[in-house]
Amino acid sequence: MGIYKDLLEKKKILSVTGLGYVGLPLALEFAKYFKVIGLDINKERIELMKQNIDPSKELDSSAFEGCDIEFTANPLDLKKAHFHIIGVPTDIDEHMIPNLKPLLGASTNIGKILKKGDYAVFESTVYPGCTEDDCVPLLEKESGLTMGVDFKVGYSPERIVPGDKVRTFTKILKIVSGSDLEALEEIDQVYNHVLDNGTYRASSIKVAEAAKVIENTQRDINISLMNELAIIFDKIGIDTNEVVDAAGSKWNFHKYTPGLVGGHCIGVDPYYLMHKAKQLGHDPQVIAAGRRVNNYIPHFIAKRVVQSLIEKGKNPGDCKALVMGITFKEDVSDIRNSKVADLIKEIADYSITVDTVDPHADAAEVHHEYGITMADGIGNDYDVILIAVGHQEYKEMSKSELQAISKDDLILFDIKGIKDGKEYETYWKL
Ligand SMILES: NC(=O)c1ccc[n+]([C@@H]2O[C@H](COP(=O)([O-])OP(=O)(O)OC[C@H]3O[C@@H](n4cnc5c(N)ncnc54)[C@H](O)[C@@H]3O)[C@@H](O)[C@H]2O)c1
Repeated sequence: MGIYKDLLEKKKILSVTGLGYVGLPLALEFAKYFKVIGLDINKERIELMKQNIDPSKELDSSAFEGCDIEFTANPLDLKKAHFHIIGVPTDIDEHMIPNLKPLLGASTNIGKILKKGDYAVFESTVYPGCTEDDCVPLLEKESGLTMGVDFKVGYSPERIVPGDKVRTFTKILKIVSGSDLEALEEIDQVYNHVLDNGTYRASSIKVAEAAKVIENTQRDINISLMNELAIIFDKIGIDTNEVVDAAGSKWNFHKYTPGLVGGHCIGVDPYYLMHKAKQLGHDPQVIAAGRRVNNYIPHFIAKRVVQSLIEKGKNPGDCKALVMGITFKEDVSDIRNSKVADLIKEIADYSITVDTVDPHADAAEVHHEYGITMADGIGNDYDVILIAVGHQEYKEMSKSELQAISKDDLILFDIKGIKDGKEYETYWKL
């Protein structure tokens, strides 16, 4: 009898390690049908989840209703479970090298409680080979068991996008893979039970890992091309979006827009692939160039801010800028790897005083993460205003409201191009 049937009949338990943006929605969805244990090492987050509160602020309390789930901060509690899903963070360190500590820590913990017949399925984004070469040896070492003989593994990458309320966990076609055909079959059945749009069966774990990482690498490179074009077209004095719209009238041109590439996926995952490539003796050129261009954009914008102020006869050292928005994208509270923080530091490096506001960001979190103190409110004496994130609140702000908080004539840097530039006298967008 397979593990899927045992889960369905609640003879066995499913565990989810890492209850963040990815792990919690997934755990709750499975808990509608199976018995689930959710583990997170962060005790404060566990306490909130026990009160039906999502610490990542993506789900409301109704998502917890009717779920057969036990929350715990004790890894040993997973002993009761047999099908383990791991969705811990996989970020990079200050040298842009994959930080596998959470993933290896979680693998060690699972290894300690692993039993014959168990499954471990990894969801965290990694480079191809990580599951089999880095995680499985820990599972084997800690458990004394042998993969393929005593237990099986799989990899199923998550494709959700933060803030997207339409393409949620169950709505997305999900890639699944397994260490052998039986594992693939069982894992596929378990996931298919909760998914509306089914699964894509990858031919191997490495293929599934690589597929995930190239989805975001491709996006990073596409945006980097638009960013490079934006720099060129800025020098020429033409609007990038107008050029892209015109080019997009050709059937095989793909439209992208320039922007700050932050967050914990698109700006991070390419480094995983680069790391693997370098390990194998290949120095990646295109992927690295994309990363370089995207990382340069905050500096480029800051330079243009200074040029604008000087053109208006202002001394940047005497100027005050308002930066509106610091989250990594519009209408979310997530500030991880926000490139606006880089932009603020670049502007401040020119001795410009910067006020930062954001209705979605938590001021304490921003201070903790970036050392940036957010302004209590918006003042009325700004030399330049930057709309850094296209939050709905900023879309609704009128020209007269923006003019009212400007010291002299409004200088607007609308990075995401959410306003109609033709309505403004001094307007810049990427
Ligand atoms: N957030 C997204 O939209 C998204 C989309 C696709 C893929 N991913 C990938 O999914 C993975 C998880 O990302 P996330 O955004 O959910 O991260 P997150 O930071 O929101 O959540 C991770 C959770 O894991 C916990 N944790 C860390 N180490 C742990 C350990 N050893 N044991 C138990 N819990 C631990 C943390 O306390 C946190 O609550 C990453 O690999 C990420 O790249 C994320």
